[in-house]
Amino acid sequence: MKGVILAGGLGTRLYPLTHVTNKHLLPVYNKPMIFYPVETLVKSGIKDILVVVSGPHVGHFLGVLKNGKELGVNHLEYAYQEKPDGGIADALSLAEDFADGDSTTVILGDNTTDVDISDAIKSFSKGATVFLKQVSDPERFGVAYLDPSDSKKITKIVEKPKDGKSSYAITGLYIFDLKVFEYIKKCSPDWAGRGELEITQVIDFYLKTDDLHWEELKGFWRDAGTFETLLDVSNFWAGKIKESNE
Ligand code: DAU
Repeated sequence: MKGVILAGGLGTRLYPLTHVTNKHLLPVYNKPMIFYPVETLVKSGIKDILVVVSGPHVGHFLGVLKNGKELGVNHLEYAYQEKPDGGIADALSLAEDFADGDSTTVILGDNTTDVDISDAIKSFSKGATVFLKQVSDPERFGVAYLDPSDSKKITKIVEKPKDGKSSYAITGLYIFDLKVFEYIKKCSPDWAGRGELEITQVIDFYLKTDDLHWEELKGFWRDAGTFETLLDVSNFWAGKIKESNE
């Protein structure tokens, strides 16, 4: 199993902070944001990691992550996404050679969680696994609709839904088998009307081939991509560190 962290994008929602550096290097309490997804992967036993970067401050990643050894990474690679807002699936397409036939655990660079996903990784065999979390603001996320008569079954995937009919956000943690790269090639920038190659369309391909599995993410999870959530996430980790020092 290989690990991929997607840290492209322009981070425009965090201007003027992201004029200074890349979003994923901004502080979340006492660490750069990207340390959190790296630590989630390392904690789950994945130490072979590719980080996809883009935008005007890409050089800063090297200075912060270096070769990853300080964070317990054995092998750290970087890939450059030419179109910084090409979409999450476009960023992931750059991992095909790195994956080299293996499955990949993928984390969005602005997502932080205290959940240990090692068991899900160990039991993964094929298809895709997504981690769902009930939220009060589903319109901000990719969302899964569950079958009312069999809640283990996902019936539909929508990016940023307006109907409020499902509260299950698809968090930015995913496990994919090799087919992911085949599906990315079939993605269209019009799928969700945002002009981006959407990871939710990739997940929809797995749904349509009956190869999509899900688990509830039991613990803290939040993206840190807006001023409000950046503050929430920082407060969460500050509280957690305080608790562990008591
Ligand atoms: O946080 C979870 C949500 O993240 C999911 O529920 C959505 O399905 C997914 O589309 C995504 O939604 P966002 O609108 O929050 O995505 P955003 O554009 O903020 O990108 C999230 C991360 O993905 C970002 O921190 C870096 C990476 N990314 C994004 C884009 C658009 C890339 O590496 N390259 C890109 O082109």
